Amino acid sequence: MTSEYRPFAAIVMAAGEGTRMHSSTPKVLHRLCGRPMLLHVIGALAELPLERIVVVVGHGAERVVKTLEEQLVVDVPVEFVEQHVQRGTGDAVNVALGAFPDDFDVDGDVVIVPGDTPLLRAETVARLAREHRVSEVAATMLTARVPNPFGYGRVVRNAGGLVDAVVEHEDATDEQRQIDEVNTSIYCFRRNLLAPALRRLSPENAQGEYYLSDAVAVLRGAGHRVNALVVEEAAEAFGVNDRVQLAEAESVLRARINASWMRKGVTMTDPTRTYLDAGVTLSPDVQLLPGSIIEGRTVVGAGSLIGPDTVLVDTTVGEEAVIASSVVRGAEIGDRAEVGPFTHIRPGTKLAAGAKVGAFVEVKASEIGEGAKVPHLSYVGDAEVGAGANVGAGTITANYDGRRKHRTRIGKRASTGSNTVLVAPVELGDEAHTAAGAVVTRDVPPGALAKGVPARIEEGWAATREGEERGGADRGD
Ligand code: UD1
Ligand code: CA
Repeated sequence: MTSEYRPFAAIVMAAGEGTRMHSSTPKVLHRLCGRPMLLHVIGALAELPLERIVVVVGHGAERVVKTLEEQLVVDVPVEFVEQHVQRGTGDAVNVALGAFPDDFDVDGDVVIVPGDTPLLRAETVARLAREHRVSEVAATMLTARVPNPFGYGRVVRNAGGLVDAVVEHEDATDEQRQIDEVNTSIYCFRRNLLAPALRRLSPENAQGEYYLSDAVAVLRGAGHRVNALVVEEAAEAFGVNDRVQLAEAESVLRARINASWMRKGVTMTDPTRTYLDAGVTLSPDVQLLPGSIIEGRTVVGAGSLIGPDTVLVDTTVGEEAVIASSVVRGAEIGDRAEVGPFTHIRPGTKLAAGAKVGAFVEVKASEIGEGAKVPHLSYVGDAEVGAGANVGAGTITANYDGRRKHRTRIGKRASTGSNTVLVAPVELGDEAHTAAGAVVTRDVPPGALAKGVPARIEEGWAATREGEERGGADRGD
């Protein structure tokens, strides 16, 4: 590469309908590992020293632009242009050139990629651009050798190894269809040669479209050279056209994400059963058991053990925490905290260090203090549980009076007996206690005991019952 700066920009073609997805969602917004397909493509491009990225939108343009504006965090400026009628890839690029005002006379390069190749890596695009510059050709295409080239544009090379033309499947002769080197639709063009080449495209072909791939033959016809670089890993150029391919691409991406975390010190018992979104952050010595599904912006601290069969969404987990067979969304789980098995933690919940929330407990928008325990069968909502408190089995915060939600406060080292109902708003003072079955409707002062609903005793009840049974009553099991 010359040391001289050469402007370098990218165009992403994403206007197509994606008919084969059979979806109300535009194809490029379908997600892989929690991130829309198009964001993977732009994310890879944004790792390169590009001066700008121009995205051609069409089908579902408004939704595509809105999603990208919300979710895209890159340093490279991204602009959108709308291709109102999809007249082909050549037309899409022509529309994109509208976003490059006069500087198209500049001697720079432009990389073109389709929006449906989520496995493309930045290094590959960088290699393409490097080859392109070194060989000083008019265009360099990325090609792939595939066992089944059906449907792809075939690359026709000449005796010198350069490319003469790309022939689309529909337009190819039987002999050309034998060629197994295919166009990936990823190219690097000399900017000042691209616009004139596009002007000479014609839609006289089997699909009646302006083919960007025809720009190759146009450049050759004008005496320019076109080179091709074969991609090492064909999967990188894998285009997603339907949901079968979406699942295939996602499994490749998932394997890449998992391998990268394992190399950074994460243990996965079975990486094929471990599902991490692209936006997740893990630490060394995190251990993921099968069925761990970790989504969104979740962060897991060093030494924590997750799974089996656990869903974590947008959650921050501290160090050496244990979360088993549970669903946790929008929560903070402190260091050494324990969750599960079979626990549902809902948004706005914070577990302090060493807190424990056990089996068949649901916690919503509550703070569980340091070392506090909610071990079994409880609902804790809109509550504050003090450090060292113990919430007995079956304790329920009745936080809803039919109209509004109210808060419950359980003091430090307080404890509740089994099946206590805390009717909010209510406060249990520090070191206060409730007896089994208490229905607490008023505040309990620190250190006090609240007891209620004692059962009355009926002597001789069994004998009465036997009498009834002889008379033919049902015996329940
Ligand atoms: C294209 C190539 C083919 C190559 C294949 C690789 C052409 C004519 N053919 O075929 O040589 O082997 O990719 O996958 O280029 N798009 C627009 N506007 C349009 C048409 C398409 O933005 O008017 C976008 C689509 O959203 C898509 C991309 O361009 O992201 C490729 O279009 P698609 O119709 O899928 O082209 P292929 O038939 O796959
Ligand atoms: Ca395609």
